[in-house]
Amino acid sequence: MNWQLPLLIAKDTTEEIKARVIATTLEGTTVPDSAIERNIETSNPFATEYWFPEQASSFASEVDFLFMAIFWISLAFFVVIVFFMVYYCIKYRRVGDKIEPLPSKSHDTTIEVLWSVLPSIFLVYMFMHGASTYMEMKTPAENAEEIKVIAYKYGWQFVYPNGDTTSELHLVMDQPVMLKMQSKDVLHSFYVPAFRQKQDIVPGRYTYAYIEPTLPGQYRLSCNEYCGDGHSKMRTMCEVHVDEQDRQENTNWVPSDHPAWENGQRLYQIHCAGCHSNKGVAGTGPALNLTWGRKAEFAAADPLTVDENYVKESILYPSKKIVAGYGNAGSISKMNSFKGVLDETPGSDVDHIISYLKYLQDPSSAAKEEAK
Ligand code: CUA
Repeated sequence: MNWQLPLLIAKDTTEEIKARVIATTLEGTTVPDSAIERNIETSNPFATEYWFPEQASSFASEVDFLFMAIFWISLAFFVVIVFFMVYYCIKYRRVGDKIEPLPSKSHDTTIEVLWSVLPSIFLVYMFMHGASTYMEMKTPAENAEEIKVIAYKYGWQFVYPNGDTTSELHLVMDQPVMLKMQSKDVLHSFYVPAFRQKQDIVPGRYTYAYIEPTLPGQYRLSCNEYCGDGHSKMRTMCEVHVDEQDRQENTNWVPSDHPAWENGQRLYQIHCAGCHSNKGVAGTGPALNLTWGRKAEFAAADPLTVDENYVKESILYPSKKIVAGYGNAGSISKMNSFKGVLDETPGSDVDHIISYLKYLQDPSSAAKEEAK
């Protein structure tokens, strides 16, 4: 069913809509929609709220604007064309016994140029606006969080950068996300009306969807491509949290079944490998293997044994202790702080990187730790 339909039918009967939504909701899951909760009421068809759920992503207003522009341009042409069609039908109808057609011009340059050029201008405008909005939707911000989306008959799985998974999509307001989507079986389609984002998920290849959520709330997420008899059940919820802390606390995380060091290895490849070798070669920063548990010498601090606290401090505040040979006393580290980039809450990114450092030093110890 078209989720937007109830909004069009009954603007002011919120309870009725809610009841219908709940009645058609999958057993055991709730699929609320902020557009309904917040009860946007407008009888003004010029307002986008009249036609759409609320705008919850950075480009939603662009999409709506273009939709409305095309709608009103089409309507204006429709009215004018149909008016003259009917008018001339009546004006030149057959009257009495006269059957000879009236003489008519075979050619009128002015009118022909007009009906070619005028629509062309509107069409080019629609294309330009559409293309630029499309580019915006396809160009991710550099700090976009990467979430893997796995679609299957009939459900969704979302895999976050630390390896944890959820069956509902959890995002953070103003934190851009790049969804890397794969299908386990047939063609599906990712669709969140409130984001104005829809992207097919094609078996055998990755497809991408970029979103910058701008409004906290819970929104419908559904499959929008008929994929079998369970297609209508293939829906879940997307929640936009006010901040990362809220997301951490109010999400049913399914912890990763990968060992922590594997997650750490992945993070290392994303964030660290550019400067830190894991094969003993000195780069922009010291090599990360053969460091765990060893004595480290610093430019301006007493030597210490590399442990959890030191590694965490170095990831979050790289300039606090600069390894001897990589900067002078009092200088600023070449490494950027990863505070706010990597998750430092227990059992998250920083811990996973620590597990990877242990693994690099002694693979068997990390394996033992996992087995516990
Ligand atoms: Cu998956 Cu429809």
